[in-house]
Formats: sequence, C-alpha cells, structure tokens
Amino acid sequence: MTFPYSRGRRLRYTDSIRALSQENFLTANDFLVPLFVTEGENIKEEIPSMPNYYRFSLDTLEAEIREIVSLGLKSVLIFVKVPDDLKDNIGTEALNNDGLMQRTVRLIKEIAPELIVMTDVALDPYSSYGHDGIVDNGEILNDPTVEVLQKMSVSHAEAGADFVAPSDMMDGRILKIREALEEAGYYKTGIMAYSAKYASCFYGPFRDALDSAPGFGDKKTYQMNPANSDEALREILSDVDEGADIVMVKPAHAYLDIIKLAKENVLVPVSAYHVSGEYSMIKAAAAKGWLNEEEAMMETLISIKRAGADLIATYFAKDAAKLLAK
Ligand code: PBG
Repeated sequence: MTFPYSRGRRLRYTDSIRALSQENFLTANDFLVPLFVTEGENIKEEIPSMPNYYRFSLDTLEAEIREIVSLGLKSVLIFVKVPDDLKDNIGTEALNNDGLMQRTVRLIKEIAPELIVMTDVALDPYSSYGHDGIVDNGEILNDPTVEVLQKMSVSHAEAGADFVAPSDMMDGRILKIREALEEAGYYKTGIMAYSAKYASCFYGPFRDALDSAPGFGDKKTYQMNPANSDEALREILSDVDEGADIVMVKPAHAYLDIIKLAKENVLVPVSAYHVSGEYSMIKAAAAKGWLNEEEAMMETLISIKRAGADLIATYFAKDAAKLLAK
C-alpha cells in the first residue's frame, strides 16, 4: 500500500500509539555490571579516563553490591587489578585460590547469593607483559595458555562463580574449559565466551583501570581485525560448538552488525560488551555539553538491544537501571 493510504506517521502521533508500537525494550535484566576490584582497604577510586566509574577494595565493595541488587540488576562481571609484584609470564597469581578474584567471588556470594557472578578469565591483568597469554620470544602461545585458563576457570568455579567469561581469544579454550569444569564436577558453572572480540582502541580506558596495557606490540595475533565479519561468525559458531552457554560480541556500539549476525545465527543468548571507550566517549561529550548524557546513554543501549543483544555489559548499567525504574 502506498501514500496516502499508508502513512507511517499514524503510528507516531501520540505517546500512547508510540508506546503501543514500540518494538524493543530495555530492563534491568538486560545488564551485566562490570566491577573493578583492587587490593587494599577503604578504596573507592575513580578511574581518570572513566568518569564516575570506580575501583573498589573488598570492604567498600559491599555497599556497591547492595546498591546493584537493590536496583534490580542480576549480574556482575568481575575484573581485578593485580599488584605489579604478583605479575609474571605464566599466570601464577591467577591460580591462587586465595587470590583477589577468588576472594571477591566468595564475598559477593556471601552478601548476595542470588546475584549472578561472572569472572573474567584471561591472563592480561596477571601478566608482566600485559598480554592475554604466555609470551615466548614475542609470541603469545596458544595451547600452554589454554592450560592455565582451564585451571583458572576451575579455581573461579570453586570460589563460587556462576559463569566464567574467557576474554582471551585463544583457540580451543571453550572446549578445554568445559572439559576441565566437568572433570572437576562443576557442571552447573556456565561459560560466557568472548567469541567475537576485536582488537579495538576502545579498550583504552579499561587498560588504565587495571593497569593492563600490553607492554610490547598489540593484541592483533589473537583479537580480531575490525574489518572482518565472516570471521566473527566462524568464531561464534565454533564457541557454541565447543560448549559456550552465552556468546559475546565486543565492542558493541561500533559492531552492531556483528551483534545482529550473531543473533541471526545462534540459538544461545548473545551478549554485547559496551566497552570502556564507548562509555567514556559519551561521558566526555556530555561533560563538554555536546550531548545529553541520559539520552545518548539510552539511545546507545536500545540500539545494542535492537541489534539483537540479549544481554549488555555496560558501565551505564546502574544509571540506566535507575532511569528505567522512574
Ligand atoms: C582483557 C579484557 C579487556 C576488556 C575486557 N577484558 C581488554 C583487552 O582485551 O585489552 C575490555 C573491556 C573494556 O574496554 O571495557 N582480557
């Protein structure tokens, strides 16, 4: 049907008709809240390149967890800042059952047993080279790294993690981690795979938060080329095949086509990581008065949802949940 019988604006004239014809919605259930944890006491320090986002020590984390729960948010995604003297090339501290990650998981499970705790599984915060794998002669080794990731995942599961979230992009790690979890009896522990993770400049502020920038080179031998999308689908399908319960696309806002591609091709939940740089861009533009922060935040998040994300990891989770509750 064509004009004048078809008039698209009929569905836009009033608030009510716009509400009736709205296709996509955000709720607090959509969000994963990234959390940065550091050693020490009484610490809640703002990350300079991530305004209004903080690193917490375990004692200050409790209030944050209670607020997250009270906002109706269902899941946190934990990252730890590891002291320099505990970093090496083989992830020794990552396997410490009493390490900061493991203590954080136990604490959160004590405070809020119903909150889904997801842990970052990758070597970069523990690596003296700032890389996601064991380094040998400038090369990031795949299979030896996967062995460490297996043990790390079991250690997180033992601490009480509901999901482990491998963010390293080594080949074959989802299968190997699944095998290790089953063997150790953690059959209920899920895997959220960072399946299509790109070598992106938008991780810059995150690397400030954890002091985890690569000491040499870049991450292009394991993270993906931003120019590719067939490759993303290959990575996503192989992770599902290997046993991923949830697959992830990262970053999110600059990769909406990849989110859509994932959604159209898999039957597991698709998550998208609205990363640090994507957060900081909005914050910076808002601070300059160039964008309305709330509107830019909500428009960005609904775009990610509309593209097909079932879950969104975002530093805006609390702000968005507050706004949605109004
Ligand atoms: C590390 C990891 C990174 C992020 C999540 N896990 C950084 C990287 O790969 O260098 C980025 C998250 C963000 O920028 O918000 N394995």
